[in-house]
Amino acid sequence: MAKILVTGGCGYIGSHTIVDLIENGYEVICVDNNSRSNAGILEGIKKITGKSVKNYKVDLCSFDETFAIFQENTDIKGIIHFAAYKAVGESVEQPLMYYENNMASLINLLKCVQEFKTPWFVFSSSCTVYGNPDNSIVTEETPQKPAESPYGATKQMGERILTDFQKQFPASKCILLRYFNPVGAHPSNHIGELPIGRPQNLVPAITQTAIGKIPGMTVHGADYDTRDGSCIRDYIHVSDIAHAHTLAIQYLEQEKSETGTEIFNLGTGNGVSVLEAIQAFEKVSGQKLNYEIGPRRPGDVVAIYANNDKAKTALGWAPKYDLEEMMSTAWKWEVKLKEDEKLFATTPPQLN
Ligand code: WQD
Repeated sequence: MAKILVTGGCGYIGSHTIVDLIENGYEVICVDNNSRSNAGILEGIKKITGKSVKNYKVDLCSFDETFAIFQENTDIKGIIHFAAYKAVGESVEQPLMYYENNMASLINLLKCVQEFKTPWFVFSSSCTVYGNPDNSIVTEETPQKPAESPYGATKQMGERILTDFQKQFPASKCILLRYFNPVGAHPSNHIGELPIGRPQNLVPAITQTAIGKIPGMTVHGADYDTRDGSCIRDYIHVSDIAHAHTLAIQYLEQEKSETGTEIFNLGTGNGVSVLEAIQAFEKVSGQKLNYEIGPRRPGDVVAIYANNDKAKTALGWAPKYDLEEMMSTAWKWEVKLKEDEKLFATTPPQLN
């Protein structure tokens, strides 16, 4: 079975992807310096799959340390690259830290791909690359607008670096996966999201408010030109996102890639407003949520959701979790974290 290197495998989407890869017969190794993740999540992966995944606790910004992993694992067939900083607000406050971390790590990995002739590379990209689109439903061909944050710019640059690299080294094939809004937790409830500090994203803000970890939350604006005034997004279950990575590796393994670098949107294709997401949570949890309507959040896109036809057709991908299941798995995970607070007690340092 082919060996896949997952960078950032102790993170939210990375850990769910490792589970899916193992369940589909792949051998997986992980690289994660745990600066923004918790190695304890590997225990959760073992509870689900029965496998102990080896983690190289290495900073990918160190070329020598990265190269050494490939020297020890010359049979790596594929790389799925998640490891990156991804807090939009933090990226605005510390752009150089974001550019250095997110780009240097990618370039080091690609130098190793070049040296070891690794055939498959899957990149964790984001709908953020579309900026504020003219049309809310975006296809992979929708022109990119200027990124709203340095974080988004690192995703746009990452895609460009990979595209140029692949043209120079055609034996390595690349797939860029543009996630919309990943939410929820694995149905086993052994792994889930571990936000650092006060959650910036909607669903962990909802669940932490409901469990009492934070006193309340704010809906960032209800005066937009949308059906209920709040912003619209395409929320997609993290396990559906994870399975798309396995399908992308299989697509490369079966040499279905017609062009050297292919792009796929990963969203349900359904737009959901902030207020609708809150209503769905209240329904599945039976909890009334303590929130207030506040001012708009700078940089927010009004409405964006995916045309996912290409991923469905080419990858055979079919998202299976609906909004209520996204909310119920997220809530079950939050309840578990509350019941067993020592589970991930050594959480990484707080974001400022
Ligand atoms: C969604 C909506 C907020 C919190 C995120 C990541 C980005 C990328 C895509 C991976 C917005 C509103 C939120 C709150 C709120 N992920 N909201 N109150 O901004 O679409 O982008 O997913 O690549 O890195 O930032 O997601 O969950 O932050 O916000 O009203 O307390 O929820 O204003 O309208 P976003 P989000």
